[in-house]
Amino acid sequence: MLNIRPANPKDIVNLQRCNQLCLPENYVAQFWVHCIVSWPNTSFLAEDASGRVVGYVLASVEPVDDHPHLLVGHINSLAVIRPYRRLGLAKRLMDISKESMTSTHYIQYIQLNVRISNRAALALYRDVLGYTIYRVEHKYCEHVPLSSVKLRRYRKLGCESPFNRPPLCRDDNGDTVLPRTDADGEDAFCMRLWIHGDPSTPHTRQEKQTVLRAMFQYASHKGRLLLACVRRSPSPR
Ligand SMILES: CC(C)(COP(=O)(O)OP(=O)(O)OC[C@H]1O[C@@H](n2cnc3c(N)ncnc32)[C@H](O)[C@@H]1OP(=O)(O)O)[C@@H](O)C(=O)NCCC(=O)NCCS
Repeated sequence: MLNIRPANPKDIVNLQRCNQLCLPENYVAQFWVHCIVSWPNTSFLAEDASGRVVGYVLASVEPVDDHPHLLVGHINSLAVIRPYRRLGLAKRLMDISKESMTSTHYIQYIQLNVRISNRAALALYRDVLGYTIYRVEHKYCEHVPLSSVKLRRYRKLGCESPFNRPPLCRDDNGDTVLPRTDADGEDAFCMRLWIHGDPSTPHTRQEKQTVLRAMFQYASHKGRLLLACVRRSPSPR
């Protein structure tokens, strides 16, 4: 029997354990505290009978960089450990967080980033939850410089970035954490769920093109890496 409830600061160690089991992007403790304390009732967890965290959504509500009077919901991290996948848990956590965010704050949209190779998460966000692709974040997984607004925000928390180190690589299944290599330059989709309707007209064709272009770039990036590996491996005698 699973219990779903709002996360609180006492849960951080357990949340981090679940995060590290599932994702290569891990966060500094200040960032967990910031999300959970500053925006209570936006981050939720699912725990089993023994109190082990089996899934969570880490969310926050932040002002838009260029329009500080506007608020936006952010899904910073979502994960469900392997034995509990495909039971509707991630959808349930996302629904509860959205409901809670929108009932407490007047937010324009909820935003998240997802690696373009993460088919499970993409299917969940796009096909089930109704998120649309807003843009491609190039080399999302490398240490990209943060905007000055974000940098100021994180410095206030006492850190330079929400991540505790550069994100690690994934294996071909998309979820095993491997040591970081130069190969980890994957792009990510920035996706949005508009709460009060998308102000721009839906650019379905443009969105499809963006997706195809990003997929193509990703495939050729992988292809180039493979070629480099083949070239580097010693030739058989
Ligand atoms: C992505 C993730 C959170 C999904 O969690 P989950 O609890 O298994 O998802 P749900 O059971 O709520 O799935 C709801 C729907 O999403 C889609 N979906 C989920 N996993 C999928 C998969 N592996 N392949 C295709 N579609 C998938 C399906 O439409 C599913 O509905 P269905 O089971 O009725 O077909 C989970 O796989 C995970 O933790 N992955 C590793 C961490 C991660 O990638 N997090 C997202 C970072 S952006």
